[in-house]
Amino acid sequence: MRQHELTQAVKNSRFPKSIFFGYYVALLLLSGVHIGLLIGVEKANFNDIIIIITLMSYWALVAGGLTLYTRHQVRKTYELPMLRLADAAAKIAKGDFSARVETINEREKFDYLDQMIEDFNKMAAELGSIETLRLDFFSNVSHEIKTPIAVIQNSAEMLKKPDLSEEKRQEYVDTVTTAAKRLNTLITNILKLNKLEKQSITPHVSEFDLCDQLVQSALLFESVWEEKGIEFEADIADERKLITADAELLPLLWNNLLSNAFKFTEQGGTVTLREYTEDGRVVVEVEDSGCGMDEQTKKHIFDKFYQGDTSHSTEGNGLGLALALRVLQLTGGEISVESETGKGAKFIVTMNI
Ligand SMILES: Nc1ncnc2c1ncn2[C@@H]1O[C@H](COP(=O)(O)OP(=O)(O)OP(=O)(O)O)[C@@H](O)[C@H]1O
Ligand SMILES: [Mg+2]
Repeated sequence: MRQHELTQAVKNSRFPKSIFFGYYVALLLLSGVHIGLLIGVEKANFNDIIIIITLMSYWALVAGGLTLYTRHQVRKTYELPMLRLADAAAKIAKGDFSARVETINEREKFDYLDQMIEDFNKMAAELGSIETLRLDFFSNVSHEIKTPIAVIQNSAEMLKKPDLSEEKRQEYVDTVTTAAKRLNTLITNILKLNKLEKQSITPHVSEFDLCDQLVQSALLFESVWEEKGIEFEADIADERKLITADAELLPLLWNNLLSNAFKFTEQGGTVTLREYTEDGRVVVEVEDSGCGMDEQTKKHIFDKFYQGDTSHSTEGNGLGLALALRVLQLTGGEISVESETGKGAKFIVTMNI
């Protein structure tokens, strides 16, 4: 595609073949005038010196005209666009990623310089969005760290009070412990995400039983479903499903999907974990009868730090699904979600065997 675009651009070169015919006709006309002048001055019986001076002045005028014309053309076609490009590059170098350069021709008449300008604009836009992501990431991390630290500080101040009842003391200690755990999970998740983002290939591929892994992941949530009175169903169609993937990465995905399902489902709801094979691929579904989500939320759930449901925002940091997605990118699977507000959610993961 890229190659095709470039060939197309080179076809629309700044030096079209017609330039040869332009020069040819112009030179013919100019030499016609030269001959005309020569005949004129000879007929007028001017002496040789005057003839030479006349012809030389004529060609000096021609050379001057051509120089002005070339200067104008070079300035219009190269210098001005290059100066604009240099200006924009200087702005970007100073951190202003909004700089853009206008293309010279209409899209249908694009040549390689237009192509270069367009690529430059794309590059500037890309850099701008990376910068926004980076700044967002820092402000999100700072925000997520500040909240539990404020809670710890506040509770520690309260614990200093001498006349504190045993009950209150226990309450503040619990608050400090919860906030510290939250900080711990946050840092662990950031480190995991950072590690996964740097990793470009799956390093520890091996054959393992996916069904067993799913059951093991589900069992981690036994106390949660018992405490919340949630009816949990594991509908595993295959008795044993050997797949070749990273056996250490995938539990991160199942645990995040299950943890969300249990977190966003109210007391007495249901959560189902399903596994089956379809068209030679293995499908894992995590379905719940919880609060569900609207279209707007669905668009952002895989973004880092995004939390759609504010009532649960004290639990977690919105990194779970970003991690899950990264795991799938590394293992080569796909994830989709079906959900409506108030009607539960179903996450569907499809992977090659
Ligand atoms: N099963 C679900 N039902 C309803 N909403 C969900 C479900 N799963 C995810 N979401 C929405 O997607 C958002 C992002 O989920 P994600 O797992 O990334 O973050 P989190 O669960 O809030 O925090 P963390 O995973 O870091 O503990 C959630 O805050 C929630 O709004
Ligand atoms: Mg989560």
